[in-house]
Parts: sequence; structure tokens; C-alpha cells
Amino acid sequence: MALYSDKVMDHFRNPRNVGKLDDADGIGEVGNAKCGDIMRMYIKVDDGIITDVKFNTFGCGSAIATSSMATELIKGKPIEEALDLSNKAVVEALDGLPTHKIHCSVLAEEAVRAAVKDYYDKNGIAYDPELFKESEDPHGESCEN
Ligand code: FES
Repeated sequence: MALYSDKVMDHFRNPRNVGKLDDADGIGEVGNAKCGDIMRMYIKVDDGIITDVKFNTFGCGSAIATSSMATELIKGKPIEEALDLSNKAVVEALDGLPTHKIHCSVLAEEAVRAAVKDYYDKNGIAYDPELFKESEDPHGESCEN
């Protein structure tokens, strides 16, 4: 069986929503200290709905594919739903990732959450800090690019 699913290869080769939003309402930037990969997520929010989203990822193919899929999954959705987006859901939507690449999907989940938090902070929207606690996912695992 191929190491990467067709969907992963598709999103890696033709990532959706790449770029930057100059008028973003929320920006999230996260990185993985081990591999040095960085992901930046921009969201535009109107009436509580994520109307536009873009990302820039300086990282491995799986990081690009997962951030691309994450943007597709949250675009057009209420902002609270974006908070529920788990790295597992991103991996499932991509028809799986090799185990040693799961941590790349964690970066995508964290980038979305960071963008939502930034939106809340900038707009003075109250939230439960528990919502943004560090996830316990395999962040520190080895990153083999
Ligand atoms: Fe670092 Fe994929 S995010 S290797």
C-alpha cells in the first residue's frame, strides 16, 4: 500500500486556500520545535461564520496537506465548530497519515485554534481559557521530513 493516500497527495500537490488574508480577523501561528515547521492560519469572520481562510505552511508535505484540508473543513462554518476540529478529523478526511506523520496534523489543529483565539482576543469575546489548553498529542515525537 502506498505510504500516502491519494487525498494527501492531492492536497500536498494542489493545496487549497494557500496565501494570506490582509484583512484577517484572526491569525494563528504555531510551530513544531523539533522539526522547525511553521504554520500560519488566517481567518475572516462575519456574523460568527468563517467566510474565508488562508494558510501558509513552511514545512513537510503532511503539514501542507493537513493545513489545506483543515481550511476546507472550517470554511463556511460557525467559528465554534472550528474549535471542535480535531487533528483526528483532519487525518480521517485525508484518508489517513502514516503514524510518524500524525504530529503534522496536530500543527493544523493548533493553527486553527490559535487563529480563533486571536479572533476572540481582538474582539474582546470572552471564552473559557480551558478551551485553549495545550493538547496532549504527540508533539514532541520525532519529525522525519
Ligand atoms: Fe514537522 Fe511534519 S510538521 S515533519
